[in-house]
Amino acid sequence: MALINKAIFPVAGLGTRFLPATKAQPKEMLPVVDKPLIQYAVEEAYAAGIRQMIFVNGRNKRAIPDHFDTAFELETELENANKRELLSLVRSIKPDDMECIYIRQPKAMGLGHAVLCAQCVVVNEPFAVLLADDLMVGKPPVLKQMVDQFAEWQASILAVQEVPAEHTKRYGIVAGSAISDRLMDLTHMVEKPAPEDAPSRLAVAGRYILTPGVFREIATQPRGVGGEIQLTDGIAALMRREKVFAYRYEGKRYDCGSKEGFLQANVELALDHPELGASFREYLKALEV
Ligand code: G1P
Repeated sequence: MALINKAIFPVAGLGTRFLPATKAQPKEMLPVVDKPLIQYAVEEAYAAGIRQMIFVNGRNKRAIPDHFDTAFELETELENANKRELLSLVRSIKPDDMECIYIRQPKAMGLGHAVLCAQCVVVNEPFAVLLADDLMVGKPPVLKQMVDQFAEWQASILAVQEVPAEHTKRYGIVAGSAISDRLMDLTHMVEKPAPEDAPSRLAVAGRYILTPGVFREIATQPRGVGGEIQLTDGIAALMRREKVFAYRYEGKRYDCGSKEGFLQANVELALDHPELGASFREYLKALEV
């Protein structure tokens, strides 16, 4: 059995930064090249050995369960038209050994609250949290790197990267003492501090491996930044009882919660795409921007 078998995908956010595109569809269904953001995150979890995917869903998010469900009419049509490749592409979205579980978050009360909504399914196991609007590209995939670290340390691990000082107010910021080149034993974590209050420039990206003790901590936290129940505050409290590590991942993060990051992801992943890459590169060259 895998060490980490459950992943939580908080997908109940309103996606207001992407209006009008997200008026009637979840932001996690926005495609980067030809795949929705949520599918990249689920594939990353699957590649890390995780088989139970727990989606914490809100209103207007029907498209996500539909995406990971059997598309009976579509599959029958592709079968009748003998479109074998497309059929296996559609079927590969949910491998047979992968289980999808949906939980409804009745109110958008923050990331910590979303994670807490999944406690009834996770119960007493360590688990992963993936924020689909952070699209991570790494070899091995970033969550797999973290699961490997977890195997060694058996403690919570947060993916971090260095950010410019003026960006600390967009992230959870951590500080602690270095154990190795990539690993840090954490003593501090603050949600979205101003640059002058930030304990470092190490920002948490949207990948976490957490021990179940965090549920109790989240549940007892007062509302934090923005009046929300923050995952960051729960993790900061967990640090007082257990070791929590930050891991500087190998790879690249695209902030697909912002229009600029989303466009960068589309351009760079299109350049890397086996069918589109070469012609798209020619197209960009010809633009001479
Ligand atoms: C959330 C977390 C923050 C983390 C960030 C990563 O913030 O609260 O700690 O650094 O994700 O993307 P959000 O982007 O939801 O405001």
